[in-house]
This record gives sequence, C-alpha cells and structure tokens, in this order.
Amino acid sequence: MPSNTPEEQLVKYLTDAYSIEKQALAQLKIAPKIAGHPKLEEIFKQHLTETEGQERLIEQRLEAHGASPSKIKNAVMAAGGVGFALFAKLKPDTPGILTAHSYSYEALEQASYEALIQVAEKVGDGETVQAARRIRDQEIAMKERLADCFDEAAEAALEAVGNDDLDNQLNKYLADAHAIEAQAIQLLEKGQKIAGDPELANLFDEHLEETREHQRLVEERLTERGGRTNSLKDAALSLGAMNWGGFFAAQPDTPGKLCAFAFAFEHLEIGGYEQLKRVAERAADGHTIQMAESILAQERAAAGKLELALNRAVEASLQAQGAAA
Ligand SMILES: [Fe+2]
Ligand SMILES: [Fe+2]
Ligand SMILES: [Fe+2]
Repeated sequence: MPSNTPEEQLVKYLTDAYSIEKQALAQLKIAPKIAGHPKLEEIFKQHLTETEGQERLIEQRLEAHGASPSKIKNAVMAAGGVGFALFAKLKPDTPGILTAHSYSYEALEQASYEALIQVAEKVGDGETVQAARRIRDQEIAMKERLADCFDEAAEAALEAVGNDDLDNQLNKYLADAHAIEAQAIQLLEKGQKIAGDPELANLFDEHLEETREHQRLVEERLTERGGRTNSLKDAALSLGAMNWGGFFAAQPDTPGKLCAFAFAFEHLEIGGYEQLKRVAERAADGHTIQMAESILAQERAAAGKLELALNRAVEASLQAQGAAA
C-alpha cells in the first residue's frame, strides 16, 4: 500500500505516537510499584495522568484525519512489528533499570513528537502542531524529573540488594555497561547503512568509534578491579532476558526512526552511567568515577548532536517516502 502523500504520512506519524502512548500507559501503571522510592513513585503517577491526556489528544487528531477507532487499533497492532512497541516491552525489575529505561523512553517520545510537529507543519495542520508541542514539552519535563531522581534511584537500587556487597555490585554495573556498549555498537554499525545522508552517517561513524573506546575502557576497569571475566557473559545474557534481543531485531528502517532510536539509546546509556557513577562513589572507586564522568560527557554530546540532526533525518525519511513537499 503506497503511503506517500504528506497527509497519509501525517496519519502514520500520529498512529506511531498513539501506539507509543499506549505502551507508555502500560509501563506507567506498573512503574510506581517497582519505583522503590516515594519521589520516583510520585513522578510516575503524575506522568500517568498526563499520558492519559496525551492519548486522548492524539486519538482526537487521528479522528480529525478520518482514522476510525478500528483502523487505529489495527495500526497499533501493526506497530508492534516496527520496534517502537518492543522498546516498551522491556521488563525493568529494579528501580535503577526502571529509571534508566523510563528516561530513555521519554527521550524516544520527545523525538517522536519532534518528528510529528515537523510533518504536521508540512501539511499545515496547526491543531496537530499545537497538540504535539504541548505533549513534547510534557515528555521533556518528565525526562528532566527523572534525571532529578538519579540519586534516589541509585539509593533504592542499592538498598534492594543490600549495601554490604558494594564491590561486587560495582562489578555488575560495569558488566552491564559493557553489554550496553555492545548493543550500541550493533545499533551504530547497522545505522550507517540506513542513515540516509552523509552528514548523519558521519555522526554515527564518529560515535561508533567513541563507543568502541567506551567498551574497552569499561572492560579494562573491570579487569583492574579483579572482576570475573565470565561476568561479562552473564550481563549479556541478562540483557537478553530483558528483551533487548527483540528490540534490536526490529531495526528502525528509516533515517528518522533511526535517529529517534539512537537519541533514546544515548539516554539509556546516560541513565546507566549515572547509576554506575553513584555506585562507584559509594564504593569510593575514584578511577571508575572518573571513567563514568568522561564517558557520560561523550554520551551527552552524542545525544545533543542527534537531537540537532533529527529534523534532517525526518526530512530524508519523507523524501524517501515521496512525501517531501
Ligand atoms: Fe507520552
Ligand atoms: Fe512520557
Ligand atoms: Fe553512546
């Protein structure tokens, strides 16, 4: 089915937004139960209410474009195959993982609404532009509230396992970081093939090099700390159990989605290293604190560049779909 007019593209982006909110609702309903800290619990509850409003807004915009409820439902089910939905199926089970994933999910939402704004502007649909801007601002605010809870999340995560075994815990965080970098390498390697324009490809290339260095640094740290080498394999396996495999099997297939995914993934890494840094502080491991800080600076810089590249990536996607006006 060719879907190449700007209007049809807009309905597609609205449908994606709708399915993202559906997944967000499912996550936000369970999040307060595993938050592990009253401050975190509170912001999840608050964002659940906001998200219910967002879902209604997007549903109204879809209806304004003649998308019937059953059509929307089918499209949401189809979206399960495009990867956005899979991202939300990760089952975080600790306050730390929950916070990092939620932080990254808000970034995914932010990027998705940036794209929606761009497409709605093209079509001249002012009401959708307005709705999408309002929702985007709520996602950014939630992202910032989560970043404001990194201390509490690390505290709750350590409490959950008992503070007596900090060195062992820190080695586990390092092994997890190693596995996350391995996934980042995969994403960035595949990313280059569908980047869609040389500038974007270059951006992925640059960060791929940094990412390989991150992985090397983390492994070196783990070895210096005398961490077991097989803990690297364990971490890779536990990530598999968290459904990362499914996430990466559903590769984003357009430059716009790729850029949004990569932006979200940088936030997952930022969330992860923020936790790692706090555990290293508790364990008074200065070298690991330093390493986490220098990697964090590069992840933040990469996220910033991806944010700036998003409009161009969405434009490249629209061009490819024949919808560029
Ligand atoms: Fe949302
Ligand atoms: Fe959100
Ligand atoms: Fe990264």
